[in-house]
Amino acid sequence: MTLPLHRYFEDFLHDIRPTPSQIKEMREGHARLRERLQADTALAGGFVSMFLQGSYRRFTAVRPKDDSRADVDLVVVTKMKESEFSPAQAMSCFKPFLERHYKGKYRQQGRSFGIEMSRIDMDLVITAAPMEAEAGTYGELLKAEASLSSLRLDEDFSSEPLFKSDRQEEALWKLHPLRIPDRDLGAWQDTHPLAQLSWTHRKNDRCGRHFVNVVKALKWWRLVHLESLPKRPKSYPLEHLLGDCCPDGIDSIAEGVVRTLEAFVDNYALHAAAKIVPSAEDRGVKQDVMARIDGNDFAAFHEQAKKAAKLARKAFESPDAQTAAPLWRELFGGKFPSAPEGGSKKSFTPHEGGSGGVDSGRFA
Ligand SMILES: Nc1ncnc2c1ncn2[C@@H]1O[C@H](COP(=O)(O)OP(=O)(O)OP(=O)(O)O)[C@@H](O)[C@H]1O
Ligand SMILES: [Mg+2]
Repeated sequence: MTLPLHRYFEDFLHDIRPTPSQIKEMREGHARLRERLQADTALAGGFVSMFLQGSYRRFTAVRPKDDSRADVDLVVVTKMKESEFSPAQAMSCFKPFLERHYKGKYRQQGRSFGIEMSRIDMDLVITAAPMEAEAGTYGELLKAEASLSSLRLDEDFSSEPLFKSDRQEEALWKLHPLRIPDRDLGAWQDTHPLAQLSWTHRKNDRCGRHFVNVVKALKWWRLVHLESLPKRPKSYPLEHLLGDCCPDGIDSIAEGVVRTLEAFVDNYALHAAAKIVPSAEDRGVKQDVMARIDGNDFAAFHEQAKKAAKLARKAFESPDAQTAAPLWRELFGGKFPSAPEGGSKKSFTPHEGGSGGVDSGRFA
C-alpha cells in the first residue's frame, strides 16, 4: 500500500493536537466555571456571557511539548462600567468567587487570572461590554440591528457552539470590541477576540481549510527548534504574522507551510536586517499585536525562518517519500512519520482523488 503526502501530514497533525484527556479537562473545567459564575449571587447580576477564546478556540493550539501544561483561554463578559471600576477594582470583584471555588489554585496576572487544574491551566480574562453597560439608553435600537446581523462564528469550525446559552439579543456585544482591565497599566483597553476568531474562520475558508493546520505545524516547528529560537514571537503574535503571510488558495498543508515561510522571509527581510519589528494591526481593534516583541529577537527568529523555508521547499519538491520524509522530520521533529524501510509500504503516491487535504508537491 502506498500513501499520499497528505496522509503523512494527517498523522503528524494527529500527534501534535491537544490530547483527548486535555480536551476533556478543558471542556469540563470551562463548563464548571460557567455554572459557578452563573450561580454566584454577587456576580450573576453583572454576568453577560463566557466564551472560549485563544488558540484552542481558533483551532490553532498544539499540544504542549515535554509535559508542560495546556492553556485554555476564557473570556467573561460583564456589564461593569469602567467609569465605576478601576482595572484593579474590576479584577478584585472576582476574588471572593475565586477564593471560594479555586482557593490555592489561582493567581492574579496583569490582565487575567490563571487557574491551575490537574492537566491544564485556565486563563480567565475579565472584560466589560460597553454596549451592555449602556443597555437601556440606545440599546433597543442597536439590539434590533444586532438581531439582523447574526454573527455566525460557530458554524462547523467549532467543536462546540460558542454561544449556545446566549439570548439572541445578546449578539450586540459580539459586534464591538470589549474592554479589558489591565491592572499593571492601570487602564482599560480594547480587545476583540471574536474579530480574531472570525478573521481566522474566513482565512481558513480562503485557504481550503488548511490555514489552521499550517499555523499548528509552524507552531510545532517553533517548539521543536526552541533552543535555537528566541522566546518571542510565539503564540498569537506569531499566528497573526503567519496569517498575514499565508497565501489564499493553498491546496495543502505542505504547500501552505512552504509558501508561508517563504513569504515570511521575503516580507520581513528589511525589518530583520534593521532589527525592527514589523507592526501588525490587530483584527478588529487599532492595536499593534507586535508591540512587546524585541527587534533583536525578531531578527534572530527571521534567520531561523530562512533556514526552515529552504528546508521546507526542498522537502516539498522531493520526488519520493524516502527523500522527503527525513527532510520534513528535520523540520518538524520525530512526530512527523518516517518513510517505510525499502520504500514500498508508506511511500508517496501521485494524487488520485484523496480526502481533500491533498498535497501538491511533485510526489503528491
Ligand atoms: N499581542 C496580542 N495582541 C492581540 N491579542 C492577543 C495578544 N496576545 C494574546 N492575545 C489574545 O489572547 C489570546 C490568548 O493568548 P495566548 O498567549 O494564550 O495565545 P494563544 O493564541 O492562545 O496561543 P497558545 O497556543 O500559545 O496559548 C490570544 O489567542 C489572543 O486572542
Ligand atoms: Mg492560549
